[in-house]
Amino acid sequence: MNVINNIRQLRSWGTINKGTRCAFVPTMGALHEGHAALIRAARETVGQSGNVVVSIFVNPLQFGPEEDFAKYPRSLIEDLGLCRDNGADMIFAPKADDLYPADRSIQLFETSLSKVLCGASRPGHFDGVCTIVAKLFNLIQPDDAFFGKKDYQQLAIIRRLVRDLDFNVVLHGIDTMREEDGLAMSSRNRYLSPEERAQAPALRKALVAARDAWKTGERDPAALQKLITTHLQQHAPLGRIDYVSAVDAATLQPVSATSELVVIALAVHFGAARLIDNIELK
Ligand code: PAJ
Repeated sequence: MNVINNIRQLRSWGTINKGTRCAFVPTMGALHEGHAALIRAARETVGQSGNVVVSIFVNPLQFGPEEDFAKYPRSLIEDLGLCRDNGADMIFAPKADDLYPADRSIQLFETSLSKVLCGASRPGHFDGVCTIVAKLFNLIQPDDAFFGKKDYQQLAIIRRLVRDLDFNVVLHGIDTMREEDGLAMSSRNRYLSPEERAQAPALRKALVAARDAWKTGERDPAALQKLITTHLQQHAPLGRIDYVSAVDAATLQPVSATSELVVIALAVHFGAARLIDNIELK
């Protein structure tokens, strides 16, 4: 496994590996089983003859001034072990000043999908995500790229990025990996106190309850949202709900008669942690 930490080395790696199918998994490190599932899916897609590239970069551009950039967990040594164990070929772990020159003056802005759900309470976050993902796509030139459905809005926005800027990359959305009690794995779960951790599985349980209601015919988004907030108030009193929203899975806009797939997404603050989860209604 190669570990590369600057653009010059990355370019020569690209020259040597030209013509080899490349699967790419962008991450911010602090890797867990969710990231491992993406790396394994990447390997499965390109086979043994392809290259699996993982980037590890805590992107300053996607953190708001009040957010956890400084204390975001960093664990490069352990991360490299997880990448190796799951079959990665190359790790790109650049320094911020290599990717962002001090006088940089160009970046991307998303003007529609990023205005709702998480974007509503994290202004600029998805602009930062689009900018770094576009830069990484340009640098790595992958054929396939892998993103988790846990960050449903991020995946929808990256689909738009690829479409609107004509990136020649196939996107793969991977199912959320969960702890045994249903809590979606996240690098931020470590911020939870024991009491908060005990209540956090209520997010998944509430979403499953809404899906059960959907299966038995409940189609009213407001009723589904109400069912979830009531469940959370009862079972996760330490949580402070940011949003619970049933939306069209492709547009992230309110559900309409033309919606092919509906997703319910939610975000809940528990102390220092802000947890997100979602469920597709089929
Ligand atoms: P990060 O939070 O490290 O997540 C990297 C990828 O792992 C994302 O595609 C995310 O959806 C996926 N992931 C996280 N938890 C998961 C889980 N429990 N199951 C399955 N997949 C999971 O998302 C980012 O980094 C950044 O915004 C990034 C895209 C790297 C741009 O900086």
